[in-house]
Amino acid sequence: MRHHPFWQSVALLLIAYVLIVFGIPMLPGSALVPKSVVLQYMLTVLVGILIWVSDDEARWTRFKEPLHAVLVESRLKTIRNGLLGALTLMVGCFTYSQVRASVAAPPNLRSIHPAPPSQLTFRGKTISLTGLENPLRAQGDMATHLATGRRVYYQNCMACHGDYLDGQGHYATGFNPIPLNFQDNGTIAQLTESFVFWRIAKGGPGLPREGTPWNSAMPAWESFLTEDEIWAVVLYLYDATRWHPRTWGETEGGGHD
Ligand code: HEC
Repeated sequence: MRHHPFWQSVALLLIAYVLIVFGIPMLPGSALVPKSVVLQYMLTVLVGILIWVSDDEARWTRFKEPLHAVLVESRLKTIRNGLLGALTLMVGCFTYSQVRASVAAPPNLRSIHPAPPSQLTFRGKTISLTGLENPLRAQGDMATHLATGRRVYYQNCMACHGDYLDGQGHYATGFNPIPLNFQDNGTIAQLTESFVFWRIAKGGPGLPREGTPWNSAMPAWESFLTEDEIWAVVLYLYDATRWHPRTWGETEGGGHD
């Protein structure tokens, strides 16, 4: 049997398998070989062996003998039936493992509007967000606030959120998640002004766990804009999109002008 090309091939396949699966991980600095890579290596080995056995006509004939015998000789009937059963069973098990319903936990879905904290610290000052209205609505001149808001927007936000506030800024396609579209009825139209203030002040880094796994490119503006500048840009966002902010106590989002 040691000199028979068929059994030599089987032995070679087994040795290759053992080397790949157990040998490679034992080399210093290497890790387990992934199943797909094992399959690739084994296919390469198999092709090599087939080339070797078919290279010589006599060897090729001898190689085929056992296969031929199992398929036709009546004394090997039990082996033939056993192989047929085993093969059928293998295909069945494989199919079953592919279509079986999995009990793995569903992937973490990203929540676009996670629950905001009830308060935040803005440059060391604690601001309570619950029930908070935009202070600029009650003080000073609305036209001035909107002019400030527009300046802040075009200096800082346009590159991502777009000239038309629709999330189509020049850099927008470079980010995942993409910058949000404020014209859409699913973004600021659903939010209170204090939520929007929080998102602008703390940006992507300030998102709670359910706001990940994606890395938001939204910067934390706390370090670049003053409190009043953020409130002014919030006013500008609502004014330019003509959405009304959601008010405290409302369960639905605000309406449109
Ligand atoms: C570098 C690109 C970038 C810039 C600049 C940027 N944003 Fe964003 N912004 C994003 C991305 C990306 C998101 C979506 C992911 C997220 O919610 O953090 C986002 C989300 C937001 C949200 C959340 C809206 C919602 O419905 O939850 C607000 C509000 C916002 N941005 C306002 C601003 C304002 C105001 C400025 C300018 C002061 C600004 N952004 C500048 C990338 C940017």
